[in-house]
Amino acid sequence: MSETRTVPKPSAGWGKNLLGWIDERFPLTKLWKSQVSEYYAPINFNFWYFFGSLALLVLVNQIVTGIFLAMSYQPNTHLAFGSIQYIMRDVHWGWLLRYMHTTGASLFFVVIYLHMFRGLLYGSYKKPRELLWILGMLIYVCLMAEAFMGYLMPWGQMSYWGAVVITSLFGAIPWIGSHLVIWIRGDFGVSGATLNRFFALHVVAIPLMLVFLVVCHLMALHEVGSNNPDGIEIHENLDENGKPVDGVPFHPYYTVKDLFGVGIFLIIFAIIVFYAPTLKGIFIDPINYKPANFLQTPPDIHPLWYFTPYYAILRSFPNKLFGVTTFMLAIVVLFFLPWIDRHPIKSVRYRAPFYRILLLAFAATFLFLGYIGMQPATLFWQKVGLRMAEIYFLFFVTAWTYARSPSKLRLLVTFALSLAVILWIDWRFYLPSIAALIWWTLLIPLCYLILFYLVPLLWPGGMRDRTVPTRVTLR
Ligand code: HEM
Repeated sequence: MSETRTVPKPSAGWGKNLLGWIDERFPLTKLWKSQVSEYYAPINFNFWYFFGSLALLVLVNQIVTGIFLAMSYQPNTHLAFGSIQYIMRDVHWGWLLRYMHTTGASLFFVVIYLHMFRGLLYGSYKKPRELLWILGMLIYVCLMAEAFMGYLMPWGQMSYWGAVVITSLFGAIPWIGSHLVIWIRGDFGVSGATLNRFFALHVVAIPLMLVFLVVCHLMALHEVGSNNPDGIEIHENLDENGKPVDGVPFHPYYTVKDLFGVGIFLIIFAIIVFYAPTLKGIFIDPINYKPANFLQTPPDIHPLWYFTPYYAILRSFPNKLFGVTTFMLAIVVLFFLPWIDRHPIKSVRYRAPFYRILLLAFAATFLFLGYIGMQPATLFWQKVGLRMAEIYFLFFVTAWTYARSPSKLRLLVTFALSLAVILWIDWRFYLPSIAALIWWTLLIPLCYLILFYLVPLLWPGGMRDRTVPTRVTLR
């Protein structure tokens, strides 16, 4: 009988065997390849492209630290404030968890504002990324709701009075307002019922929505591909293998680059957490170290820094309904940006000098509004706030005007119409006692209008765009 010998198969190793086992049942490798290792991203991503992955990191930080905080937190008006003190003093590493959560909340907004501004710089909201932008805006609104409800949790003075002020805004809605306020609070005032429902929404409902929206956001991104600092579509220029000539696989190129960003971010994060967790009252308001007292209104109620630009807009009108409508409009208008700025050139790099100045002025306006929102509600700050709010909206009017290579007549007509609306607002809310304040602050929007509508008539070169290259550039 002849002997047959079988050659032993080389072992694939347990890791590969496990992966093979999973792949037969779930498209793990396929997903990794399509979404990461074979997802082609433009070669020219710069510093601004760190913030998407950083937003993901902070989201995970908020969820993980939030789960551990919820283990010791008590959503009860008698116990909430004390349970935060218990977490800070008695729970092992409780202080670290809490400061990671509070610092994470503020840095989430820093990262998101920079991420959104990158979108403005490179026109990332324009075709074909309109839906990607809208999903981003929905994330932003959810994030605001999440932060607002989370702020009630410590049941401190500012938590309580902040919730009273913001929920009462819904009362300005004609007819249904007062019923709506009671429905939202679950009671006639902000109470235990409000704390309980905000807790449920803060720890379960909104985080679920956020995660769902982030998944949709990334799916939309991978469907249309990433934009880049030149605003050129890399998928329009493919090599013989069908890969973008100006693209590189996301992994390992951008996973490694993003890790560098993560390193820098974690250093900043750690410095704040360990050395300045309240950041001089900017990240944690000192008034919130006092327990909520519904018999004592704090002298000055204002939200944390990330809401102050909108807060400044809200209180710049003496009329509540006007204020609330304008504040909501300030957020809603951002959803429509893809249809407001329809200029064919995406990146600010190739847009005309006036558009560049316009974008810079918009960023400065938003920051200044944020500063105004932190100031006491005096008539002076109210009026300056109104002027900055006017400039905030003028950005969208001007971006819309510039998007269509405006004629001289169009510039003049928009100038006149914008000035008319501003003067109408002044007439509508005129107070003889502050006439001087009204007139001299009028110079702010007037200078803005002159700069962006009349100076271009004298210097047409400032309205000329640059030629967009056909291939991405490395700077
Ligand atoms: C939890 C919040 C968010 C997360 C985790 C997130 C995540 C990401 C990631 C990972 C990317 C790709 C990497 C990058 O381009 O930086 C991205 C791209 C993008 N995101 Fe977000 N994002 C969030 C919120 C937002 C918001 C609020 C907006 C705007 C309203 C937005 C608009 C965009 C746009 C337009 C792009 C494409 C940018 C380009 O290709 O130039 N995102 N996002």
